[in-house]
Amino acid sequence: MTDLLRFPLENYEVRACTLDGRTVHYRAFMGLEYCAHPLDPIQKLNLFVPEGYYHGETISGYTAETAPIFLPNTVGGYMPGPADEPGEDRFSHTPNSIFLALEHGFVVASAGIRGRTSGKVSKEFFAGSKEDSPGAATGRMVGRAPALIVDYKAAIRYLRHNRDLIPGDTERIVTNGTSAGGALSALAGATGNHPDYTPYLDAIGAADERDDVFAASCYCPIHNLEHADAAYEWLFANEGQYHSMRFERTEHGIARIPCIGEMTLDQKEMAQELKALFPSYVNSLGLTAPDGTLLTAAPDGSGSFLDYVKQYVLSSADHELRTLETQKALPWLMVPGSEIEQQSYLKTRDNQIQDLDWEGFIHKITRMKTTPAFDAVDLSSPENEEFGDETVEARHFTEFSMLHNTVPGAEKAAADKIRILNPVLYIKDPDADTAKHWRIRHGAFDRDTSLAIPVILATLLENHGIDVDFRLPWGLPHSGDYDLPALFEWIDRCVQQP
Ligand code: DHB
Repeated sequence: MTDLLRFPLENYEVRACTLDGRTVHYRAFMGLEYCAHPLDPIQKLNLFVPEGYYHGETISGYTAETAPIFLPNTVGGYMPGPADEPGEDRFSHTPNSIFLALEHGFVVASAGIRGRTSGKVSKEFFAGSKEDSPGAATGRMVGRAPALIVDYKAAIRYLRHNRDLIPGDTERIVTNGTSAGGALSALAGATGNHPDYTPYLDAIGAADERDDVFAASCYCPIHNLEHADAAYEWLFANEGQYHSMRFERTEHGIARIPCIGEMTLDQKEMAQELKALFPSYVNSLGLTAPDGTLLTAAPDGSGSFLDYVKQYVLSSADHELRTLETQKALPWLMVPGSEIEQQSYLKTRDNQIQDLDWEGFIHKITRMKTTPAFDAVDLSSPENEEFGDETVEARHFTEFSMLHNTVPGAEKAAADKIRILNPVLYIKDPDADTAKHWRIRHGAFDRDTSLAIPVILATLLENHGIDVDFRLPWGLPHSGDYDLPALFEWIDRCVQQP
């Protein structure tokens, strides 16, 4: 029988890409079908190999056999994330992650991933997504949950299926993504080989292979959606004003449309109700700090969990005060007015951060979303659409928003669909092969989700004995890929560990 998923070894172009006076030479294998029964034209993969590996070269100590395989995704806003290629990053106007990864000696696989708007053309735009990716108007809405993780896993399986043909080490696959793409990376990292995904993988004709990965890099992952509303209000319930920015694709590029307003009385009431739901969730997790302290929340939200989150913000501020890392390296990205020396809620002595006024900090970073932040009562959020399917446009995914629903006939998504989209639920699951190494970055000024959300993810992993490098970089908004040299050094260190 012919193997539909065999890697076409002879089907490549040798290409060069020059940016900032630097050139990478690579072999490009474009548009590979990574599953036998694709449902959308986006389900294709590009594979890039440093050309030097075909000439016996060593790059950063790696060879054609040992190079890690970097698997970045372009998913943002739970939208489709098309396969990418080496080029310029549209935000920073510097070489993108694929260019830099090839230069560093990684093999790079970029897989096209279905999203909630697959099947229609959309004008929306999100942090992790690619500017020119409006999607194909097939009319088939085949990209809703759990399509994104099914596609990522299928791509991982394709790489393993072809382990003898593809340069690089398929036991060193590293996922990377930002925001919804960060959630996707976390899902791949947490759920390796879990049987929950098998029927979906079988349906698209994914290779019968393992789909666990070596390491997951997650920038501001928008995940744990069914608890994200309560976590948001645990932080922002006392902030009545919202400050958001809408992005829209126009003929002239991405338009930024600011939206500032006061929440309605109804929304403020819901905020308090949601805040009250958070402590029981945190307490149910049984999280502990490195010194063994149980991380808990009292009914008013105070307690050791809050102190723990505060510590991450304090170390972020302290790091910035000592190094000015964000101010020096990322002036174009940092939130205007986040300069460390201008933060009146920070208590500093002898050029050291002593403490911070938490409410002052929260007021400074501002609430971005109205209540509920994710499961909108009128089904209008990206996440509501993510939980739609081929026939139903959008669904609720929390009991709370189902109770406060304003749309006639609204449904709640099935429990198994909600579950398979939440990486947090798989970390302790004995049937999941969770990645051994995690790097999580979440800007200290990111308000797209609560700071509690990445802290819970990192702490659960740590408590489970997994290697986690977690930080909240000072002054950064919702964003990713801003420290790629450091990410690659981290990958090098992980690979070198016994
Ligand atoms: C993204 C941002 C959000 O605020 C959200 O709710 C979902 C996704 C994103 O940038 O991918």
